[in-house]
Amino acid sequence: MLERPRRNRVSPAIRGLVRETVLSPAHLVLPLFVHESATPHPIPSMPGHARLSIFDLVAVAQEAHKLGVGGVALFPAIADELKDPLGKESKNPDGLLQRAIRALKSEVPHLTVITDVALDPYSSDGHDGVVVDGRIDNALTLPILAEMAVNQARAGADVVAPSDMMDGRVGHIRRALDEAGFTDVLICSYAVKYASAFYGPFRDALDSTPRALDKKTYQMDPANVREAKREIDLDVREGADWLMVKPGLPYADVIRFVRESSSLPVAAYHVSGEYSMLKAAAERGWLNFDQCLLESLVCLRRAGADIIFTYGALEAAKLLR
Ligand code: PBG
Repeated sequence: MLERPRRNRVSPAIRGLVRETVLSPAHLVLPLFVHESATPHPIPSMPGHARLSIFDLVAVAQEAHKLGVGGVALFPAIADELKDPLGKESKNPDGLLQRAIRALKSEVPHLTVITDVALDPYSSDGHDGVVVDGRIDNALTLPILAEMAVNQARAGADVVAPSDMMDGRVGHIRRALDEAGFTDVLICSYAVKYASAFYGPFRDALDSTPRALDKKTYQMDPANVREAKREIDLDVREGADWLMVKPGLPYADVIRFVRESSSLPVAAYHVSGEYSMLKAAAERGWLNFDQCLLESLVCLRRAGADIIFTYGALEAAKLLR
């Protein structure tokens, strides 16, 4: 036999030399949940994750930075009494999220801080936009998102990440940031975000399950991929710096499609449900969590993701050390 593909697999060193895809902690973003209380509130459907105080958040962020993780993505668990239909608390310059950003930028200045732009943590309806007569109102939502993004930038966010899927929001946010002088703050657009049931554990974490209606009038239909082209073309024109595909692994074909349709960096979100499935199977002894996590992440990179948001960022960074 002249052709023996196995020769390229004979040793770890040979395999290392011919490896096509590299995964390093610098590609990873760790999503974290923050709340007002001093005691951590574990999230049962996301083993290893909890709502953290700002103090504990800073400690975890320090660890992430030491391990070489590229950034953290922050999600605030807002007290129910502060939620209303217009998400007013998102404008508070001294709100929970703003204090968390300031603490991180002062204690771990070189770690990239990414903040979520969407109404759902602040909305008494649990939706990413304003609900009017049983519909999500695009026009009413845009100025609120723009103000939210500026408020986050003012607190020190490096990257704002609109995850709301309203039409026109990237342009709205870009103009508002520039007018306020935040020309260097990046926009990571959740450009291709699907109406997915894999977000279940995340909604437990924030207690943000919609009170009524689903998110199918703004998030994409899992059956579609051509439509992704339209979403990314718009976001590129409106000034996005990164394009996100979400969820991750079940949508690897979409990641590849976005990779080939644009020259912008592509982010993939290995979402809560993907993480929790691995944890649950590992708890039963059915899968090896560490190996399945690293394999999932390398597959996302191979599919075309530059950046990966994953709840397993700390574990992966330790394994990669
Ligand atoms: C909401 C938001 C969601 C996630 C990130 N931002 C959930 C949703 O759209 O309902 C999901 C993240 C995850 O499941 O890990 N703006």
